[in-house]
Amino acid sequence: MDFDILPFSGSARRKLSRRAFLAGSAALATVARALAAARPLAPDPHIEDLLRRMTLEEKAAQLSIFRSPISSAAINPQGRREPTREDAMEDVRRGLAAGYFNGFDIAFNRELQRIAVEESRLRIPLIFAADVIHGLKTTYPIPLGEAASFDPELCRRTARAAAEEASAFGLHWTFAPAIDVARDERWGRVLEGAGEDSWLGARIAAARVRGFQGDDLRADDSLLACPKHFAGYGGVEGGMEYNTVDIPETELRQVHLPPFKAAFDAGALSTMTAFNDIAGVPCTANRRLLTEILRGEWRFRGLVVSDFQSVRELIDHGYAADEADAVVKALDAGCDVALGDDIYRRHIPALVRKRRLAEAKVNESARRVLRVKKALGLFENPYRSLDPDRRKYVVRRPDMVALAREAARKSIVLLKNKNDLLPLPRTGKSLAFIGPYVPDTAQALGAWALDGEPERAVSLEQGVRAALGPGAPCSFTRGCAPEDAIPGGVEAAVRAVQDADVAVLYLGEPERMSGESASTTSIVIPPCQQDLAEAVAATGKPLVVILKHGRALALSGAVRAADAILCSWFLGSESGNALADLLFGDFSPQGRLPVSFPQASGQEPFYYDHRSTGRPQSDAIAAFKARYTEVSNEPLFAFGHGLTYSTVEYGETLVSAPRPTRNRVVKISAQLLNKGRRAAHETAQLYVHERVAAITQPVRQLKGVQHVELAPGEAKMVEFTLRLPDLAHVHGNLADRADHGAYDVWIAPSAISGRKATFFLA
Ligand code: NOJ
Repeated sequence: MDFDILPFSGSARRKLSRRAFLAGSAALATVARALAAARPLAPDPHIEDLLRRMTLEEKAAQLSIFRSPISSAAINPQGRREPTREDAMEDVRRGLAAGYFNGFDIAFNRELQRIAVEESRLRIPLIFAADVIHGLKTTYPIPLGEAASFDPELCRRTARAAAEEASAFGLHWTFAPAIDVARDERWGRVLEGAGEDSWLGARIAAARVRGFQGDDLRADDSLLACPKHFAGYGGVEGGMEYNTVDIPETELRQVHLPPFKAAFDAGALSTMTAFNDIAGVPCTANRRLLTEILRGEWRFRGLVVSDFQSVRELIDHGYAADEADAVVKALDAGCDVALGDDIYRRHIPALVRKRRLAEAKVNESARRVLRVKKALGLFENPYRSLDPDRRKYVVRRPDMVALAREAARKSIVLLKNKNDLLPLPRTGKSLAFIGPYVPDTAQALGAWALDGEPERAVSLEQGVRAALGPGAPCSFTRGCAPEDAIPGGVEAAVRAVQDADVAVLYLGEPERMSGESASTTSIVIPPCQQDLAEAVAATGKPLVVILKHGRALALSGAVRAADAILCSWFLGSESGNALADLLFGDFSPQGRLPVSFPQASGQEPFYYDHRSTGRPQSDAIAAFKARYTEVSNEPLFAFGHGLTYSTVEYGETLVSAPRPTRNRVVKISAQLLNKGRRAAHETAQLYVHERVAAITQPVRQLKGVQHVELAPGEAKMVEFTLRLPDLAHVHGNLADRADHGAYDVWIAPSAISGRKATFFLA
């Protein structure tokens, strides 16, 4: 299975002549910029009529989405004034809200909708949104974990299932997918995206959008997608949450924007601004981003929503003098809707009356909101997704639970497997399962499982017991709490291990350590768990470590030295079953790392597609090289790395033409041979490096992935096709084009392996 190479630009794959392509068309870029001012949308008579009848107050209200008074999760800071149920009902009656988010009570949402369409003056339906990030009641692995499947189609399927379930709770809109490319693992929100690679991120972003939105946005079971956070949020300095970002536009376009472009090409009709600034201009009021690039160049026709109160935060940024100034700057820049705040609603009417804000601008944003509501079918069918009966058939449907297990299995990455310790035998050996997460389900789901049901998740202990049946020789001991020692815990764990043949440690981050507002200076396992691991390892028993985490970790001591390591993220509802499937060999691991594991925390940001520098680390000599004195630049586990229960050998990388001319299409191939005794699912990766460029290019860049099933002893050829657009990079004039010259290519099982071949683009 090969997944498609995305169009270079625009929504359809285009053939570009070599000349046009290589010319790079600085002229075109200039034209695009000149056209950047958003064009008016083709008029919709119904919406135009509404706009004519709306008061300024009603228009401003359509630009305001509020936290639901029944919001169950404290995932945003306390607002200025949180509405009560009664406030919300009264506001809706007076036409003073466009919608609500994070309220999962269908009866209340339905009542609000009834008031909107029966009692408000203009009968404009409400839109209900929520952060449905990795499922609702059925929880799938955290997005970063699922990205480890390297399988966009799987991501589409889980997003689809999440939409089916969440829409049965009266929701129309998800604030997802989060598609920030993140290269600094200190940032807690690495967990929400698809990792450090832009190419993979773009495919996964598009797939998730297609999954959420389905084939028909008006269907009862589809959710409007909201790729976020636009843009550059993954580049926060020092990995510190909400911090400033200073990325040149060339880099922004090459690394951070492609997933957004892909998401919009896939049909996403909304986006959320990022909290951060870029080079001093906050994204929420960033005209370059929100109007010139998004609407001008990309022809985006949806709506832009701020992040939670990020319009008001323009004041704290030092970008706006006061609330009124913030409103003018955000709206002028292209931020249509203020989230979680009545700042637009309170200020817009007066600002227009005082002529500080053009009414046409307000109309433009209100028009976009109304058009999106129309695209969702809300005018024709305001009760779409508000049928309380549908929940009975949809929630935790067996196929969804099965999908959660499948996704969890495919997200687990086997990092290390000394002496083929895994899979474990079902009988004949006694096993000691140790660690705070062994019996636990409270930490199974991971951050952003807002209305998830941890109590219904499967713990490792439950999964193992179900796999081995009653009477199996195994013990289960916590040893410590996630962040604290427990009296006698380590001793009990050591005793259990001494009585067993193999120890299986389940360790890592508790939920609170990754997610929003969870940046950390040190990406390590909590000390009490590390102590537990040292004591267990000192018994000398063979040791398997299962890691729970929302980011790449810097592993040390006994954990790093373990015989086998499984990277398992937060796996969701079916955690324990999926882990048991892998531990006992019912499923052979196939996940690959979407983030590089460093040697030490202090190396972050640490990612595979870095630049070479003038003094690359090329050999063992450390002096006068770009590296830290204590550790090598080699990752502990590389991007793309992941073992199977077999051994797959990669042959030479072959290029179809060393000096390609015809249509500039190059075929790259290699033979894969399964030398082991088990079937393997191999994830072959194509990497490219342009040797010389006016803007230096990364040492490697992922350009293709193929999933290959190999029976024991079987050999298969994999072949990738590289076209000119795949070789393009952003130049100084911001044009995207390929250069003449030498390109190194590898077909490899990770970003640091494989055999190199070279071709020259004449
Ligand atoms: C803040 C987060 O940054 C954003 O991702 C989320 O959608 C909003 N809060 C709403 O909960």
